[in-house]
Amino acid sequence: MRFFALALPLASVVCASKLDARQALTNTNAQIMPVVDSLDVTMRHSGPAILTLQAQHKFSDITVGEQMLALGAAFLKADVGLAKIPASSGSTTISPTNDDISIRYSDVMQLVSTSLSGVFGTGAVPHFADMVAALDPVIARTSLQLNVTSPGSLILVHRMMLDASQFFVAEGFNKTLTALGF
Ligand SMILES: *[C@@H]1O[C@H](CO)[C@@H](O)[C@H](O)[C@H]1NC(C)=O
Ligand SMILES: *[C@@H]1O[C@H](CO)[C@@H](O)[C@H](O)[C@H]1NC(C)=O
Repeated sequence: MRFFALALPLASVVCASKLDARQALTNTNAQIMPVVDSLDVTMRHSGPAILTLQAQHKFSDITVGEQMLALGAAFLKADVGLAKIPASSGSTTISPTNDDISIRYSDVMQLVSTSLSGVFGTGAVPHFADMVAALDPVIARTSLQLNVTSPGSLILVHRMMLDASQFFVAEGFNKTLTALGF
């Protein structure tokens, strides 16, 4: 009996503080966007760099490995950056909107998946599967963090990745695919 007497008021306190936390949500989209933008800038450099390596027949564990390391570092940085930002209440009208964030992140995902799509076929990068195995959980984590900081943002990313997800499948980005809802 004493336990229930104690537990009930405690439960209502817990509930109240949860409500307060929700009411305290602010629109942090303006903080989230630069983090996603920075990833996009990295990919707009690395994507073409990878395609150029392919065109010049310079694929190797070393050249592709360098790009994969750069991607890993960029996603790690984004993951840490996003985790520091309070979850956003979001906005569908004030720029950057929720959709702006999802669309930019989709762009990043498209660039990662398509720019790496030629690597396996060449056979010139024997350790590519190991590199993917290292990068995949990092991208998955960052994606899940984005979905927390910008709640539900992966729903639109999923829709925009319906076509390009086939490249992630071929490359073995299984954890990323799961995170994106495939
Ligand atoms: C993303 O967030 C939405 C809404 O908050 C949730 O329904 C969905 O399950 C989350 N997706 C993942 C992969 O966690
Ligand atoms: C990814 O999933 C596919 C299909 O389920 C499977 O065949 C493949 O072995 C998995 N790859 C890795 C790296 O786990």
